Amino acid sequence: MSITILAIESSCDETSASVCVDGKIISNFIANQTVHEKYGGVVPELASRAHIQNIVPVVDAALSSASCQLSSVDAIAFTQAPGLIGSLLVGAQFAKSLSLALDKPLIAVHHMQAHVLANLIADDKPDFPFLCLTVSGGHTQIVLAKAPLDLKVIGETIDDAAGEAFDKTAKLLGLPYPGGPLIDKYAKLGDPLKFKFAEPQIPELNFSFSGLKTSVLYFLQKQEEGFIQNNLNDLCASVQYTIINILMKKLKKAVDQTGVKQVCIAGGVSANSGLRNALQQTGKKHGWQTFIPAFEYCTDNAAMIAITAYHKFLAKEFSSLDVGPTARAEW
Ligand code: KG4
Ligand code: ZN
Repeated sequence: MSITILAIESSCDETSASVCVDGKIISNFIANQTVHEKYGGVVPELASRAHIQNIVPVVDAALSSASCQLSSVDAIAFTQAPGLIGSLLVGAQFAKSLSLALDKPLIAVHHMQAHVLANLIADDKPDFPFLCLTVSGGHTQIVLAKAPLDLKVIGETIDDAAGEAFDKTAKLLGLPYPGGPLIDKYAKLGDPLKFKFAEPQIPELNFSFSGLKTSVLYFLQKQEEGFIQNNLNDLCASVQYTIINILMKKLKKAVDQTGVKQVCIAGGVSANSGLRNALQQTGKKHGWQTFIPAFEYCTDNAAMIAITAYHKFLAKEFSSLDVGPTARAEW
């Protein structure tokens, strides 16, 4: 008997639905919310409202493009945490209603675990154990994955996430939200060694990024008018270079400490071309096997929720209807 899972992701500002059959992703639809651009960040109330508008068409699109009837779905999965509570509630309530109406099991999924397991979607996937650097708008973690449902955070940021470092410095450079993809774009045309920004000395496998935006802010305050416009590409390249350096040094330390040489990246920032190149180059140099999810599975998506739910289904890890979404969650 095959296992068909319908998964929903709504933790922040993307509404997404995916159909997965026997661990293979058949469809993955994502509705991006552009309404936040002019506010320089995600406005939670607007995000919840947009999820309410998007969820039915997105689920319909995922089902019809997979030629899947609701009656053939074996379980409904949703993102339980972490995320914006109003956004999570929309996906959670929708999934629970479907589960109740169809009398099919419900599977609650941890968003950050799903980012890690996005690396299991491709045919060329890592074996266990592997390490994963998960870099998103809200998190920066190094995870040791011993099995699909045995994931341990062995390092994380003590303040800002890597995605925040991109977005906040982009804002200082006058770029709209989210600035990460724009820094990536302009960095391709700039000199990464033109400007030097301080790298923090943080113990163990932990990270800190809050000092970087302050360092960029103080540096920009000392410059004359027109400096940013005349140096945008070099500024973006230098900021990106600093962030990637901080990330790669800790990832190398994690490999040395654990001896695990299968190394993945995940999360929105893993879409960054500089980070993708750095992982491949560092991997080649040190004999690591490296893995990077396809672009559509780096930023928030329901396919990663579906693949995680598939493993939970196999392990019979179902949730009851009274499971609530939570803004924060332990692993
Ligand atoms: O994983 P994600 O889609 O959402 C969260 O769970 O937070 O990550 C969003 C983050 C944002 O900070 C965004 O600027 C960053 O990922 N991002 C990038 C790139 N694409 C998305 N950062 C740098 N370069 C990119 N190409
Ligand atoms: Zn995410």
